[in-house]
Amino acid sequence: MGPPRWASLPFLLPLLCFCVALNETEPEEGGEGLPGEFFRPVEPHPGLFAAASSVPSFRGPGNADPRSDGELPVLLWWSGSLFPHFPGDTQRIDCARGSCLSTKRRRARGLRRTRALLFYGTDFRAYEAPLPRAPHQTWALFHEESPMNNYLLSHAAGLALFNHTATFRRESHYPLTLQWLPDLDYLRRPPALGLEQKQRLREAGLAPLLYVQSHCQVPSDRDRFAQELMKYIQVDSYGKCLNNRELPSMRLRDTSTATTEDSEFMALISQYKFHLAMENAICQDYMTEKLWRPMHVGAVPVYRGSPSVRDWMPDDHSIILIDDFGSPKELAEYIDFLDRNPDEYLKYLEYKSPGGIKNQFLLDSMAKREWGVNDMTLPNYLNGFECFVCDRENARLEAERNHKRTKGKLPAPEPTIAQFTHMGCPPPAPGYGNIEDIPPGDSWKEMWLEDYWQGLDQGEALTAMIHHNESNQDRFWDYMHKIFMKRTQ
Ligand SMILES: *[C@@H]1O[C@H](CO)[C@@H](O)[C@H](O)[C@H]1NC(C)=O
Ligand SMILES: *[C@@H]1O[C@H](CO)[C@@H](O)[C@H](O)[C@H]1NC(C)=O
Repeated sequence: MGPPRWASLPFLLPLLCFCVALNETEPEEGGEGLPGEFFRPVEPHPGLFAAASSVPSFRGPGNADPRSDGELPVLLWWSGSLFPHFPGDTQRIDCARGSCLSTKRRRARGLRRTRALLFYGTDFRAYEAPLPRAPHQTWALFHEESPMNNYLLSHAAGLALFNHTATFRRESHYPLTLQWLPDLDYLRRPPALGLEQKQRLREAGLAPLLYVQSHCQVPSDRDRFAQELMKYIQVDSYGKCLNNRELPSMRLRDTSTATTEDSEFMALISQYKFHLAMENAICQDYMTEKLWRPMHVGAVPVYRGSPSVRDWMPDDHSIILIDDFGSPKELAEYIDFLDRNPDEYLKYLEYKSPGGIKNQFLLDSMAKREWGVNDMTLPNYLNGFECFVCDRENARLEAERNHKRTKGKLPAPEPTIAQFTHMGCPPPAPGYGNIEDIPPGDSWKEMWLEDYWQGLDQGEALTAMIHHNESNQDRFWDYMHKIFMKRTQ
């Protein structure tokens, strides 16, 4: 998992800081009044945002929005910790199509011109959702992390709460699928160690296969698989899970070091021919540094994660997919075969040679991507998504206005509602063996299946609350209870 990628991105640079002055201080919450007076036709807080000077665009030229800040649609980061501007809590953003005022002041929810609420998937709690939901306000979901962080978002019911999505899945509106791949040169980099050097290390006692995992109880149940595989092939396991080898220094034993590209850590993992790389949860297009980092250092990932991972690979011979093998034993035999046959092994690194990246879909996806990873010349994906939502909300405003102006001759804008494909994920399955063979009381079974199905109930409960114009969040658990009773009858 590690810190989310954006945490290290340059949106804190003073260059991007154009702070909108606020002429009053207000509490974070409250003051929104009774449900009946919600969204008065006159803005309840005329002074909530003071006028601001105009600021340069995050997306470059093309924006000629003449509106003052007071006229702009407002985007509210309900998950304030993600607010991608600093310092201050409100910022004018000038996007490709038009401008918006972005804020993390929750009181702005009561404003008519607040058009969208932005949520971070990991922080989204059905029992804390802002209710009642105003019909004119869309909800935007940003979630680049593991599905295990919030299983409400693995189900159609939970996803249909949202109108705009940025997730790891390619089907989302603003896909973050390649978030862990800075650029193609990251893949092209020559292996840190040549095969002869790796072979010498093998003869000195290193295993062919590396495993480094300190987060042990996860939905993909990867340790159950790794443990089985270890019966058939030598694996050096440095993390807290299935540990059988000590990291060479104290600083590396600090797990936060192993989640970054620390040079000492990278040197250690570069020594191995193969990395056992399994995501903490299985979902289409959920791929992390566990996949890309071995490729960067010139090791071959022995991978389990996104079932469609091949779509994104540089060529059709660059990783070993665990699920292509009938059993851990067969997989071990194949790794052993490659370990003994340098020519066969090196075929897995051919993508590093000139012209070796043959996958046009990958090439196109990288060329099309408008946000950067640690790239000062491009917006990061938080700012990018914010502008994406801003542009869509300005388009919707315009369509609504044209609909009114033409007395209905031009159609009202169609609603957009997120689908299962925007982030849906299958239920957790055992890392090895059949679920029937796993005894009751097994902690993985007890924890993750229940968590996954609870996510479905939560999405349905919140949907029902919205349909009933429910404004009392405390009633969430009554709704949950009703759904639970219906399901168990
Ligand atoms: C947003 O999604 C909700 C469903 O959660 C839907 O009822 C509403 O019409 C959508 N709004 C827009 C503007 O698409
Ligand atoms: C919820 O509110 C909307 C608009 O105010 C209204 O049209 C609808 O009938 C209400 N639904 C319920 C179940 O009260």
